[in-house]
Amino acid sequence: VQRALSDGPLTGKRVVVTSGPTHEPIDPVRYIANRSSGAQGTAIAQALRDLGAEVVFVTGPADVTRPTGVEVIEVQSAVQMRAAVMAALPADAGVFAAAVADWRVENAGGSKIKKVAGQMPTFRFAENPDILAEVSKLPEGRPRLVVGFAAETDDVVAHATAKRLRKGCDWIVANDVSPATGIMGGTENAVVLISDSGAEAWPRMGKREVAGQLARRIAAALDESAG
Ligand code: CTP
Ligand code: CA
Repeated sequence: VQRALSDGPLTGKRVVVTSGPTHEPIDPVRYIANRSSGAQGTAIAQALRDLGAEVVFVTGPADVTRPTGVEVIEVQSAVQMRAAVMAALPADAGVFAAAVADWRVENAGGSKIKKVAGQMPTFRFAENPDILAEVSKLPEGRPRLVVGFAAETDDVVAHATAKRLRKGCDWIVANDVSPATGIMGGTENAVVLISDSGAEAWPRMGKREVAGQLARRIAAALDESAG
C-alpha cells in the first residue's frame, strides 16, 4: 500500500540516498565496475518515501526498477555521484548505500584504446572522493543523521565499527558478503546496525524488510533529534 507523502512519520523530512555501483571509465567503451545490484539501496529509498519522506535517489548504473515517487538522479562515476549528492543537500538524513568505486582511472582516454599485439595498456589509478566521509565531516549543513554501509568479510563487526569511526557517520549498516552467505546479489540480507551504542544484529530477512526496518529506525532517530 502506498501512502501519500502527507501522512507518514517522515513527512516533511528530506533524505538523500545513494545506491548501485559506479562505473569508472577506461575509455569511451570500457569501464571498471563492481557487483552491486542496487537492490538494497532501491528498497531503502522506496521504504523512506513510503513513510512520507521527500527522497533524492542518486543511483549508479543498476539493473533494477527505480523507486517511485522519488527524485531519481542517474550518474555513472563516483565523481558524478559526489556532485549530485552535494547538490541535493541540505537534507535531514543521508543514506549511503552505493558501492562507490574506490579508484578511477586517472589516464582514461577520450578515444578507444586499440589493441596492439603483444602490447598491454598500463592504467594509473587515482583515489575517488569518499562521499560518505565528506558528508559526515561537513562543518556546515551536515545531515542530522548520516548512515553508511559496510560490506565486509571475516570480522564484520570489528571492520564496520572501525569504519564508522574513521568516516564519522552516525550509523553503519554492516553485512557479511562472504560467498558462503549468498547475500551478494541475493534477495535477502543479514545486517548488523552499528551505532555509538554498539552492534545490533538483525535476523536474516528480505532486503525489502531490512529497508522497512531501517526506514522506521531513521524516522524514530529524526524524531528524537528534532529541535
Ligand atoms: N563510500 C562513499 N564513497 C566512496 C567509498 C565509499 O560514499 N568513495 C561509502 C559507501 O557508500 C558506504 C561506505 O562508504 O556507505 C563504506 O564503503 P566501503 O567501500 O565499505 O568503505 P571503504 O572506506 O572504501 O573501505 P574498503 O577498503 O572496505 O572498501
Ligand atoms: Ca570501498
